[in-house]
Order: sequence, then C-alpha cells, then structure tokens
Amino acid sequence: MEYENDDTWRRSNSPKAVTSCYTIPKRSTTTAVVVLGLAVLSCLLGYCVLSETLPYESKTLRLVIIFFRHGARTPMSSYKSDPFKNYQWPDGLGSLTNAGKMQMYELGKKYRSYYANFIPEEYFDKDTYVRSSDASRCMMSAYTFLAGLYPPSERQMWHPEIPWQPIPVHSLPRELDNIVAATKPCNLSKAMYNELLAEKNADPKFAELFDYLSKHTNQSMRSVLQVDYLYSTLASQQEAGLKLPEWTKNVFPHKMRTPFMLSLALLSYNETIQKFHTGPLLGQIKQHLQDSVTNVNIDRSLYIYSGHDVNVVSLWRALGFAELLEPEYGASVVIELHEEVEQESFFVRLFYRNNTKVEVPMELKLPFCDDPCTYSKFEEHLNTLIPNDWETECQNINK
Ligand SMILES: *[C@@H]1O[C@H](CO)[C@@H](O)[C@H](O)[C@H]1NC(C)=O
Ligand SMILES: *[C@@H]1O[C@H](CO)[C@@H](O)[C@H](O)[C@H]1NC(C)=O
Ligand SMILES: *[C@@H]1O[C@H](CO)[C@@H](O)[C@H](O)[C@H]1NC(C)=O
Ligand SMILES: *[C@@H]1O[C@H](CO)[C@@H](O)[C@H](O)[C@H]1NC(C)=O
Repeated sequence: MEYENDDTWRRSNSPKAVTSCYTIPKRSTTTAVVVLGLAVLSCLLGYCVLSETLPYESKTLRLVIIFFRHGARTPMSSYKSDPFKNYQWPDGLGSLTNAGKMQMYELGKKYRSYYANFIPEEYFDKDTYVRSSDASRCMMSAYTFLAGLYPPSERQMWHPEIPWQPIPVHSLPRELDNIVAATKPCNLSKAMYNELLAEKNADPKFAELFDYLSKHTNQSMRSVLQVDYLYSTLASQQEAGLKLPEWTKNVFPHKMRTPFMLSLALLSYNETIQKFHTGPLLGQIKQHLQDSVTNVNIDRSLYIYSGHDVNVVSLWRALGFAELLEPEYGASVVIELHEEVEQESFFVRLFYRNNTKVEVPMELKLPFCDDPCTYSKFEEHLNTLIPNDWETECQNINK
C-alpha cells in the first residue's frame, strides 16, 4: 500500500537516503540509441496494428472516466538488512522516475489514439476534468499523461519551442482527500481495517514466509502490510537494475505476491469497508454519470483520476471483482457511459488496461449486471456502496 509509507507524507517515519555510497549507473549512449530505436520501431509496428482496430468507433459513447495508477517510481522505504539502504535516489524516495514519466506520456498518447473519435483533439477546459492524489508522483503522472493526451494545436502553441500546454490538475491535501487517494481519516474503517489485517496476519499459511523474511531482513516481518512494503521496495530496486540479495530468490516475487495483493485488498475487503474507503469516489462517479444522463453537463465528456495501486484495487473490488490484483504502473480502469439514442437508454461498459503498453483495453463483464449493463442497474450497485453522510458514519467525532 504505497501511500501509507510515502516519504512525502510521513517524513519522520520513513528511512532517508543519506550518504552517497552508490551512484546511479549511467546508461551508455549506445544503449540509449538502441532503446530509442526500439521505441520508434515498436511505435511504427504498433501503428500498423493500431490502424486496424483504432481509433475506437462508437456512435453511442457519451462519457469516459479513467482512473489510473501513477508511473514507475523509486522505492519508498528500506529494511534493516537492505544492501541499498544508503542508495542515492536523485529525486528521493517514492518519486516518479524518468521511465515513469515516459510511461504516463505514452499512456496519454494511447488514450488519444484510442478515443480519437471521441476526445476532441484540442483541449478545452469545459470537456475535461482531472483530479489527482496530492502525492507528487501522482500529480506528475497526471501532467505527463496530459502532455501525451493533449499536445497543443497550432492555435494553442504559446511558446515556439515548447510543444506542451498547461492543463489543470486538481487535488485535495492528503488529510482531506477521501476521493482519489482516500487518505482522509475515517475512524470506523480504520478499526475495520485493523481487524481484517490482524485476521490475515494470523493466517497460518503465511507463518513460514514471515519467519523466513524476518530472519533475512533482520526485522520483524509478521504482517501482510510489512510484506507489502518489502515487496514494493524489492520490485522497484529490481526495476532500477539493482541486484537483489540472494535470499530474495526463494520468495520474491512468487511467494510474496499473494500477501502483497491481499494487503492492497484489505482497505476494500468487504462491502462495509468499501463504503468508507471507496464510497466517496463512487459517489463522484455516480454524479458524473448522472450529470451526463440528465444533460446537466453535456460538455464534460472526460474525467481523469490519478491515484495509487491501492486505489485501483479498491475501485476494482467495489465494481464487484474479487480476484486479487497487482496493478502495474499506469494500470487503468475505464468506465464508459453509452447512449442508445433510438431506444433512449443508457448503458455502462467497463475496461481494464493492465499497463501502459497495452494497445486495446480489456473489457470486463460487471458481475452484478447483465450485458449490456444498463445505467440504472449500474447506479443501483453504486448506491449500495455510497454512504449518506461519510463523516458521521465514519464516527469522526472530532469533526
Ligand atoms: C541484525 O541486527 C543486529 C542488531 O540490530 C545487528 O547486530 C546485525 O549486524 C544485523 N545483521 C544484519 C545482517 O544486518
Ligand atoms: C467487513 O469486515 C469488518 C471487519 O472485520 C466487519 O466488522 C464487517 O462486519 C464486515 N462486513 C461484511 C459485510 O462482511
Ligand atoms: C490483465 O490483468 C487481469 C487482471 O489481473 C488478468 O486477468 C489478465 O490476464 C491480464 N492480462 C494480461 C495480458 O496480462
Ligand atoms: C476517533 O475516535 C476516537 C475515540 O473513539 C477519538 O478520540 C478521535 O478523536 C476520533 N477521530 C476523529 C478524527 O474524530
């Protein structure tokens, strides 16, 4: 669960990269050229494939809501025996890397070509609304995504050398955000979460793994949450090209993956906790759909949310999918609202794009709904998970 031990939010608790024992290896120019060449080639190839299936043709599409996880980042924490404890990450812990920026830019371009017949080529404030978690890597992911989605038209070029235009990204501070990052404190769900966590931690099937990890990390590893942090750290160290210690080979990623995914799922484990952790976001989604259906807001046709792995999982689970999920960088959930004009009816389609390389998102059948899923059936499902008064139901007595 990446925002919990986010360095930008919990400075006092997070380990800091102090001295420069290691330096970031410099890529040789040759590698850069090869990588660039491959990128160009794959784009060309991608385009050939693309031209057959894209742009997405739909006469019924009315509204698109995209929720993605940010791009690749540096590790957020360390562990006792970590050989890279003092590694110098130039932009600090938990920061979006250049590769991450490129991923999100590419993702923006993918959505641009996918929805070329729907999203107007020029950016207009009235069409699009973007919200992000306040974490820097999410804000930066949103900006780079938008750079790919909305390159300025000739009219919009405001600087002869910068083919980029500013597009607003809205966010609430962490302690007020119960929508995107879902980090606003909620007493009741916190208590439920702790109960669920304790229950999973006591599961005998993890005992052996916990023993092994505790021994090798030289610190207590008796919780799926700690395994979650460790898994994330190892994954991002590995992506950065660092050689993981030998002992990790027995457990990473395979044996650690289930407890890791389970930890991500706990905040949306059952319907009661979903109501608190995901309900406010679902409330927004319901509002967006409603505004479109009732013509309150006919211009706005695209909503974009930039959040964390755990938020993607929460949305996925709240939409009825019980399968444990490990969202990759830039993984996105897409909700589409369609209108069958002649029948005067609306329906909803759902998609998941596993990562930023996928060309065509995978359509998911909503488990609580027929196919096509009517808007009213979809709304009915959302209503079961939207609290009437979040603050009061959370039992936040000091608010
Ligand atoms: C484990 O921790 C102990 C006590 O903190 C320390 O003496 C020892 O060197 C550590 N071992 C490793 C492998 O980090
Ligand atoms: C969800 O889990 C919490 C914590 O264990 C529990 O209090 C609540 O009753 C559960 N809700 C459902 C619908 O199972
Ligand atoms: C994409 O993610 C879903 C959900 O985890 C999974 O079922 C599917 O196999 C994945 N597809 C690919 C191509 O990895
Ligand atoms: C949560 O409840 C506890 C007591 O049960 C109280 O002390 C605390 O202030 C509450 N938190 C909020 C945000 O209201």
